[in-house]
Amino acid sequence: MSYRNAFQQARQQPEVFWAEQARNVAWYQPPTRILETLDDGTHRWFGDGRLNTCHLALDHQVEQGRGEQDALIFDSPVTGIRQRFTYNQLLARVAELAGALTRLGVGAGDGVVIYMPMVPEAAMAMLACARIGAVHSVVFGGFAANELAVRIDDAQPKVILTASCGIEIDRVIEYPPLVHGALQQCRHPVDQVLVLQRENAPADLARFGFLDWEETVTGSEPAPPVALNATDPLYIMYTSGTTGKPKGIVRDHGGHAVALLYALRNVYGMEAGEIWWGCSDVGWVVGHSFIVYAPLLGGCTTVMFEGKPVKTPDAGAYWRLVEEYGINGLFAAPTAFRAMRKEDPEGRLFQRYRIDTLKHLFVAGEKLDTPTYQWLSDLTGRPVYDHWWQTETGWPVTAPCAGLGEREVRNGSTNRAVPGYLVEVLGEDGQPLPPNQEGDIVLRLPLPPGCAQTLWNDHPRYLESYLRTYPGYYHTGDGGYLDEDGFVHIMGRTDDVINVAGHRLSTGIMEEHIATHSAVAESAVVGRHDELRGEVPLGLVVLKDGVAQSSQQVEQELIALIRHQVGAVACFRRALIVPRLPKTRSGKTLRAALRKMVNGKDFPLPPTIDDPAILNEISDVLIREGEVARPGQVL
Ligand code: COA
Ligand code: AMP
Repeated sequence: MSYRNAFQQARQQPEVFWAEQARNVAWYQPPTRILETLDDGTHRWFGDGRLNTCHLALDHQVEQGRGEQDALIFDSPVTGIRQRFTYNQLLARVAELAGALTRLGVGAGDGVVIYMPMVPEAAMAMLACARIGAVHSVVFGGFAANELAVRIDDAQPKVILTASCGIEIDRVIEYPPLVHGALQQCRHPVDQVLVLQRENAPADLARFGFLDWEETVTGSEPAPPVALNATDPLYIMYTSGTTGKPKGIVRDHGGHAVALLYALRNVYGMEAGEIWWGCSDVGWVVGHSFIVYAPLLGGCTTVMFEGKPVKTPDAGAYWRLVEEYGINGLFAAPTAFRAMRKEDPEGRLFQRYRIDTLKHLFVAGEKLDTPTYQWLSDLTGRPVYDHWWQTETGWPVTAPCAGLGEREVRNGSTNRAVPGYLVEVLGEDGQPLPPNQEGDIVLRLPLPPGCAQTLWNDHPRYLESYLRTYPGYYHTGDGGYLDEDGFVHIMGRTDDVINVAGHRLSTGIMEEHIATHSAVAESAVVGRHDELRGEVPLGLVVLKDGVAQSSQQVEQELIALIRHQVGAVACFRRALIVPRLPKTRSGKTLRAALRKMVNGKDFPLPPTIDDPAILNEISDVLIREGEVARPGQVL
C-alpha cells in the first residue's frame, strides 16, 4: 500500500485500517472490538483482545524459527564487553528472571522500578515484567535520588531492579547509594532490591540489605507468559510536564504491540532478520519502543550500546558499530551528530569504516538544525530522516514512511503525518490556522493505537493536560506550522518543558528546587539555545533582601543543588541573579518573554505586563554576564 492510500484509509476508516494491522500480531485471542470511545473522550483499542508482549517479542519469534538468530547485541566500549544473545538465549534468561520475580511475590498488575545503566539485563528486566504482567517503570540512570524517590512513590513498586554501577565518560556512578537514598525519602516502602553486580564497582550489598541479582535469579523456575488484556498496562514511563511532578505515561499491551510493529515495518522500513540500532537509553521512550520492544516484536536484531557518540573512545564509535554488526537502520538524537561533527568535522574517523549495510538514518528528540543535517547526509550519502514524536505517543507522529517507499523530505520539517495521525495547527481561539501560520500543534482524536490514554494514578490530569484545551483534539505541547503540502514544522515547546541533548526536562522542577535555597526569593528557569545540546536551562534568580552571600556563591550552590536533586543530566550550569522578574498584573511570571530575551529573539510587549522597565534590567544582566550579546528586545 502506498503512503497516500494508507494515510487515507487510516483517516477514513480507522477501525478497518487498524483491524488489518492487528492481524500481524499473534494474539492469544484476537480482538473483535477494535475501537471504543469512552464517555470522557478517551479511546480504547482492541478492548477484548488478549496477548502477552514478551511472548510476542521472544516465544513467538522462536516459534517462527528465529531461535538461533541474534536477538540482542551488546557493545560496551566503557567496559570492553561485547555480548550476543540469540532469541533462544534471551528467552531463557528472561523466563528465568520472570520466575525469580514471581518467587519474590511479583504478579500481574504489580509495579517494578528498573533503575539501570545500558546493560542487557535492563532489557531482560523489562521483558520479564511484561511476561508476568507486572508493570515496569524504568527510571533513567542519570536522574538523582530525589527524582527516583518521586517515581517510586508514584509507581509503588514491589521490587526495584538496579545495578552496582553505571559508567560515564569520566567516572563510575554507584547506584545502590542512590537507591538507598531514594528509599529513605520515600513514603512507599520497598523491601526487595535486586542488584546486578558489575566488576567496575561491586556493591557492598549487606550494607544496604539488598539482594544479589545472580544469586536470586540463577536456577529460578522459568515463568511462562501470562495472557493479558490488550488494555492492561505494560509500563509506566515518567516524563516531564509543566509542574514539578512528572507525568506517569501508561502504555497498554495491545495497542503498543500493533503500533510498534506497524512503525517498525512502515516507518523505519525494517524487516525480520535485519539489524537495528536505537542509539538512546532504556530510560527514555525511544529506548522502550526502539531498543527493546519494536525490534524484537519484528524479529530484528537489536543493538544496545553502553557508550557515547564521542570519547568512547572517539567520534568514530557509531560508524564502527555500523560496520562491525552490519547495522541496517539506526535512530539517534541530533545532539549525538553535533557532538561527532565537532570532533570529526572532516569525517576522518568516519572514513575508517564501511557503512554499506546502512539503509537510512532517523533522527528525533529535538530540532535537527540544517548544518548538522547537511553534514550528516553529505558524510554518509544516506537518507537522513527527521521525524517527530513524544513519550505520550510512543511511536512516530510525523516521518517519511520509508517502509512504504515514501522518501520525500522537506528541509526543516519533520515531514508528514504517519498513517493513523491527523496533525492540525490551531490558533488561540481553537480554530484551524491556514498553512504556514504558527500555532499549537494538535492531533485530532481518536489517537491511534499505542498512544497513552491515561496517566498512572491521575486520569484527571491526563484529561486536563491533553484533552481539555481544544475539545476533540490531543494537545501536543509543541508549537509550529503545517505548510501547504502538509509537512509539519516543529518550532519548539509552548510549555515549560525543555530538551537538553534530546532529554526532556521540566524547568518547573528546577524552579521548585531553587526555591528551597535560603537566599532565594523566586526564580524562573528557561531554555537557552546551545550549540551542542540544542537547549540548556538558564536560571534567573531574585534574592531575598539582605542576603549576605555573593552572587557567585549563590550561583555555585544552586548549580550543586540541581545536580544533586535532579541530576547532572540537567546540565544546569548558570544561575544569574536579577533584580526582579517580569510579571503580569496578576503576578504570573512572563516566561515566554524571558525565553525570547535569553535567545536573542525580539517579541511584542506582553499586553498584561505590570512593569515593562524590568525587561531592560534583565537585558542589562544578560549582557553583563556575557550570556547573550544582544538579548531579545521589545518590538
Ligand atoms: N547516568 C549518570 N550520569 C549521566 C548519565 C547517566 N545515564 N547520562 C548523562 N549523565 C551525566 C553526564 O556524565 C554529564 O555529567 P558531567 O556534568 O559531570 O559531565 C551530565 O550528565 C550531562 O550529560 P550529557 O549531556 O550526556 O553530557 P556528556 O558530556 O556526557 O555527553 C553528548 C555529551 C553529546 C555525547 C551526549 O549528550 C549525547 O550522547 N547526547 C545524545 C543524547 C541521546 O542520545 N539522547 C537520546 C534521547 S532520545
Ligand atoms: P520526549 O517525550 O522525551 O520524546 O520529547 C518529546 C518532545 O521532543 C516533543 O514534544 C518535541 O518538543 C521534541 N521533539 C521530538 N522530536 C523532535 C523533532 N524531530 N524536531 C523537533 N522537536 C522534536
